[in-house]
Amino acid sequence: MDLDRLMGKHLTRYFDPGRTIPEETLQRLLRFLRSTPSSVNVQPNHFYVVATPEGKQRLASNLGERFMDNSEKILNASHTIILTTRADVSDSHLEAVFAKERADGRFPDPAKQELWESMTRDFLNLRSYGYKDLNHWMEKQTYMAVGLTMMAAAELGVEATPLEGFDPASVDKAFKVRETGHSTTVLLALGYPDPRKVYSNPISRFDADRLFTFV
Ligand SMILES: Cc1cc2nc3c(=O)[nH]c(=O)nc-3n(C[C@H](O)[C@H](O)[C@H](O)COP(=O)(O)O)c2cc1C
Repeated sequence: MDLDRLMGKHLTRYFDPGRTIPEETLQRLLRFLRSTPSSVNVQPNHFYVVATPEGKQRLASNLGERFMDNSEKILNASHTIILTTRADVSDSHLEAVFAKERADGRFPDPAKQELWESMTRDFLNLRSYGYKDLNHWMEKQTYMAVGLTMMAAAELGVEATPLEGFDPASVDKAFKVRETGHSTTVLLALGYPDPRKVYSNPISRFDADRLFTFV
């Protein structure tokens, strides 16, 4: 990965409609996304991989009126991932997490798995009834997955642009997301830049003295 190049580049706003991510590269990226960590391993996501012309059209035309300028990005990107997050943590979801951990042998010692499960339940109770931020907290996990996947995409030579410019209610309705107990958090458009429309002006970020305090 060329970090120097990454530090100087703008996110891609114009994708080349003629280029598609090779299947093997896409599968590696999705495998990476699947591997991203979440707090207490809550795994609060479901991902819609939008690749077909019909899927792209459905997403592009359901961003909500004020966000139509993002439509072109979705139509021209090779793929767009809709990252959705659970509204709540049901008992059946938690049981599925624990069952998978046991099946995968996450903890070699069953007593450790049991301890982990009780700590996880305590932590989730704290988020639900103490901090009262369960969904917000889970959406933070989703943003971590987006950030990590952007880096993995860079490693694979794929451009990745997160998109917050959409109406979640509209996207949820178009893809029947809420019926599954999730809602849309953020989109990630993936593909290759249109070479005729790559910005060459410098990026603009605050200077280091404003950003860092060394203690
Ligand atoms: C979480 C996130 C959401 C974003 N959503 C959009 C979006 O919906 N539409 C868009 O054109 N750009 C979007 N951007 C791009 C930012 O506006 C852009 O990265 C920022 O203005 C800095 O510009 P630069 O990447 O050209 O340096 C998003 C960026 C991030 C990190």
